Amino acid sequence: MDRRPEVHLRMLTSEDAPWLVEVDRTSTTNLARGRGWDEEKLAAELDEGVWASDDLWGWAIVVDGEPAGYAYVEGMSSGDGTMHIRISARYRGKGVGREVLSQLADHHFAEQTGLQRLVGRAHENNVPMQRAFNAAGFRMEARYRDSYLQPDGRYAAEWGYALTRADWEAGRHRADDHGYDLHGLTFVVEEVLADEEAHPAAHGMVFKFLQEGRRALARYAGGDITEGELAGIIVGDVLVYRYVQDFDGPRGLEVITGSGRARIQRRQDGRLEVVNDWTDDTGRAGKTFLLERRE
Ligand SMILES: CC(C)(COP(=O)(O)OP(=O)(O)OC[C@H]1O[C@@H](n2cnc3c(N)ncnc32)[C@H](O)[C@@H]1OP(=O)(O)O)[C@@H](O)C(=O)NCCC(=O)NCCS
Repeated sequence: MDRRPEVHLRMLTSEDAPWLVEVDRTSTTNLARGRGWDEEKLAAELDEGVWASDDLWGWAIVVDGEPAGYAYVEGMSSGDGTMHIRISARYRGKGVGREVLSQLADHHFAEQTGLQRLVGRAHENNVPMQRAFNAAGFRMEARYRDSYLQPDGRYAAEWGYALTRADWEAGRHRADDHGYDLHGLTFVVEEVLADEEAHPAAHGMVFKFLQEGRRALARYAGGDITEGELAGIIVGDVLVYRYVQDFDGPRGLEVITGSGRARIQRRQDGRLEVVNDWTDDTGRAGKTFLLERRE
């Protein structure tokens, strides 16, 4: 069984400069720019207290006693503190990011009475960051189009997230009841549980989800379905949705519409699975079993 790593934040000192520069350099991806720090300049700034003011505060992320990354919050004196986080590759995907966000909220909302919101942005393809925000109770508030200049010179969109002081006071950053989060996940139809004749090719169909709060969207395709789209809301463990799909069947191309109920549950290995009951608008019905695909 995976153990949750022990995560804590501590103040940065000038002695941290060498590994900060290294983590920054090695964690630069297409989805997260590096800061391009100069080690000496950074060490001098840390000595002068530049990274420990009412406006800007930097943290070392310590995981099981080892420096594992950094986080900082800037612009706090405006009331909106903007967060930046970098975690070394070997510590990612273990819940560290989520815990860091919760600890940043606990610390800064308690210490800075003028701080109203903690905000952050994630590249539209940065699923780990989006999932960490959601798990720590942040809400998606905006989509900034063409706001992120990528290394290839093209612009990408970013999602904007925020946790407000009221959210923090309500304990939203530590609540485990944000429900299921399908955002960024891919599911594959593993089994056709009923009505194999109506959908012989449903096996292997791939669904890609987006989610914002309780609203979920998925695009899907596979077999005779050349393109499909569903949109719905998640209440508890059930997604209730409408769908429209292009079906390339014996009678040529048909556009089929319908609705469904998908029950979501988590398996022991942590993956999500979905039991999906669908009915099309002509009355045909079926049941499929979808399993989360991990890369
Ligand atoms: C983004 C980052 C801070 C997140 O921290 P983390 O410790 O990896 O995050 P967590 O483990 O708390 O959460 C990540 C979630 O994404 C999931 N995930 C990771 N890769 C995924 C993928 N390719 N597809 C779907 N889900 C993925 C993880 O399973 C986990 O989800 P879950 O536990 O809710 O199921 C960290 O990965 C990082 O430093 N990345 C590089 C720099 C960066 O992108 N910084 C943010 C710039 S705004």
